[in-house]
Amino acid sequence: MGSALTAELGEGHDHLVADLADLADLADPEGVRSAAAAVTVAATPNDLLVTNAGRTCEGRFAEMPLDETLPVLHLNCEALVGLVHAFLTVARPGAALVNVASTLAFTPQPGQAVYGATKAFVHAFSQALWYEQRPRGIHVLAVCPGPTATRPGLHADTPAVLVGARSRWPQSPSGSSAGGAATP
Ligand SMILES: NC(=O)c1ccc[n+]([C@@H]2O[C@H](COP(=O)([O-])OP(=O)(O)OC[C@H]3O[C@@H](n4cnc5c(N)ncnc54)[C@H](OP(=O)(O)O)[C@@H]3O)[C@@H](O)[C@H]2O)c1
Repeated sequence: MGSALTAELGEGHDHLVADLADLADLADPEGVRSAAAAVTVAATPNDLLVTNAGRTCEGRFAEMPLDETLPVLHLNCEALVGLVHAFLTVARPGAALVNVASTLAFTPQPGQAVYGATKAFVHAFSQALWYEQRPRGIHVLAVCPGPTATRPGLHADTPAVLVGARSRWPQSPSGSSAGGAATP
């Protein structure tokens, strides 16, 4: 994803070249350790960390096997905590941490009980870190997107007007995307 963003944004965004998801399976503790080690490479202190990796599992909690739900906790919470800790040990004043949460942090949803709880964790964790890191001059932000069609078929059962998707935005005459409501 980092290399895709660098290609899209062009020159001057070299800080996006580190794609930690390429280094490790972040649902595995050993993978988190190797990714955290990459974050803390002393010669290249990182100015921006975006903890985007996340996954969900859908279904009634009690009817699902634990081995389908625990990896969601490992990735969305444990890996995030490990990477954030590594980042904050080397972050310099002016650095920024962006944790990707969800609107489900505020509105738990039956059928995604564990996922929603992990996003509430990310939101609460980020708020506390925001306060703790202010004296160091390090910015902490929790991003809480609503349903977003980041890949084909995702949220196909959700009314289009509720789903954010760049490809559904009206195009300006120059071809660039215009903001505003998604087209139904
Ligand atoms: N889409 C939505 O409606 C929505 C709404 C609110 C919040 N969010 C949050 O936004 C973030 C991105 O979601 P998305 O919709 O873009 O989902 P996605 O298309 O499924 O992408 C998930 C990302 O997480 C990475 N990932 C998944 N499992 C991993 C693992 N075990 N180790 C390392 N990386 C792993 C994937 O890497 P690979 O590409 O290498 O597989 C991918 O970059 C997530 O935190 C999600 O919870 C999404």
